[in-house]
Amino acid sequence: MAKFAIITYSTYGHITTLAKEVAKGIEAAGAEAEVFRVPETLPKDVLELIHAPEKPDDIPEIKAEDLTKYDGFVFGFPTRYGAAPSQITSLFDSTGALWATGALYHKPAGFFTSTGTGGGKETTIRNTLSFLSHHGMIYVPLGYAKAFPEITNVEEVQGSSPWGAGTVAGSDGSRVPTALELKTAYIQGQEFAEVATKLAAPLKTGATEVSAPAGETSASAPAEEKKASATESEDAKKPETSASAAKSSEKSGCCVIV
Ligand SMILES: Cc1cc2nc3c(=O)[nH]c(=O)nc-3n(C[C@H](O)[C@H](O)[C@H](O)COP(=O)(O)O)c2cc1C
Repeated sequence: MAKFAIITYSTYGHITTLAKEVAKGIEAAGAEAEVFRVPETLPKDVLELIHAPEKPDDIPEIKAEDLTKYDGFVFGFPTRYGAAPSQITSLFDSTGALWATGALYHKPAGFFTSTGTGGGKETTIRNTLSFLSHHGMIYVPLGYAKAFPEITNVEEVQGSSPWGAGTVAGSDGSRVPTALELKTAYIQGQEFAEVATKLAAPLKTGATEVSAPAGETSASAPAEEKKASATESEDAKKPETSASAAKSSEKSGCCVIV
């Protein structure tokens, strides 16, 4: 069964609520879903000043090295001036070793978001695509097809777009995700799992698995396939950015620029 991680950052809980619907949608499509949060980077006193609630106990933290265990990811985070919060950027900043080995190459990823007023709901996702491009990951947008009545609904405020599901939290954060927004999040989970499961199977042989911690294996690369992926012919199919780039940077002793 394909296994997907829903990776969230949420200050006030709107994203956490949407994440649970995305998870239900993934499970309805016959795949496994696990919800995580990235580590908080704001100091405790700042969190108190902005009246941020405690993080939920039932959502574990995820670290970069855990990503190899999943067949794909749905990232959920609120906007910060039309871009991703630094907590999410920090996670990607710590994926250098995964990038150097091509460990996330061709893994599918989608996004959902939350905005105070709707301002930046699309740019927040668009501005994050660079992470996927550099890893060679495949962006799976929500699109219009399956969520057409929800996304095109102009009878009520709603925070989704073809880039991904979303909610409008209100400028004081008091609005909670509506039934329409929750349904859109569910549809995104379902649609993501359907396409990502198809992508995961044939691409298994493409993953180079060298960075999983000892004793752990990638969800997408059984032992024989991993061996095969290390052959010269497989490496030749890959972009400069994977194993070969790591090798040449080792030789020159230089840093690896993504
Ligand atoms: C530093 C900062 C910048 C923000 N920038 C925007 C923005 O550009 N547009 C907007 O609509 N909301 C903005 N917001 C509001 C957040 O998006 C809102 O608090 C969030 O969607 C709530 O989601 P959460 O409950 O999951 O934390 C900003 C909030 C903060 C703290």
